Amino acid sequence: MKKTIIQTSLVALGIFFTAALLTGCGDKSSGPEAASSGAVDPMKDKGIGPVTSVTLGALDAAIAEKGKGIFVAKCTACHNTPDIDAKKIGPSLKGVTKRRTPEWIMNQVLNPSEMTQKDPIAKELLGTYIAQMANQNLTQDDARSVLEYFRTNDK
Ligand code: HEC
Repeated sequence: MKKTIIQTSLVALGIFFTAALLTGCGDKSSGPEAASSGAVDPMKDKGIGPVTSVTLGALDAAIAEKGKGIFVAKCTACHNTPDIDAKKIGPSLKGVTKRRTPEWIMNQVLNPSEMTQKDPIAKELLGTYIAQMANQNLTQDDARSVLEYFRTNDK
């Protein structure tokens, strides 16, 4: 008789923990915490936008020079040039190619509003910098040139 009571309690306990696991953990994995950058490896995150794959070759000085021109004209309202390690309205871009994938960088440039809404890293940056990065309407080719400028700066 005593044994049956113990067995019944164990079964009840089992059901309780299973239910707690299902509801508790279920909530966590779909909650906002799951999107925090702690859960994301930045060197694996390609971001959201038109760029899915970039093949990097040897540095191309002419393309980097073109990228520099685009950067100075369209980005310096909010960012220092990447040789300067200081934030402005947006983050310092020194070392950006060491902390983000090339695809992520180009998607942030080409598709900043969707990035700050849906990409966990960009979302967190928006939380820190408050201002929303503007879409400067670069072509993919322009964005690739700017990436070459960043790579050259970080070499
Ligand atoms: C209106 C201001 C503004 C302009 C113009 C702007 N940005 Fe930004 N940028 C930001 C802000 C602010 C962030 C942080 C994310 C956010 O809050 O939207 C950011 C983030 C970034 C990031 C991610 C940095 C990191 O640490 O991961 C890159 C790369 C970037 N910008 C590149 C550019 C380039 C290239 C241009 C020019 C084509 C540009 N930005 C123009 C404000 C701007």
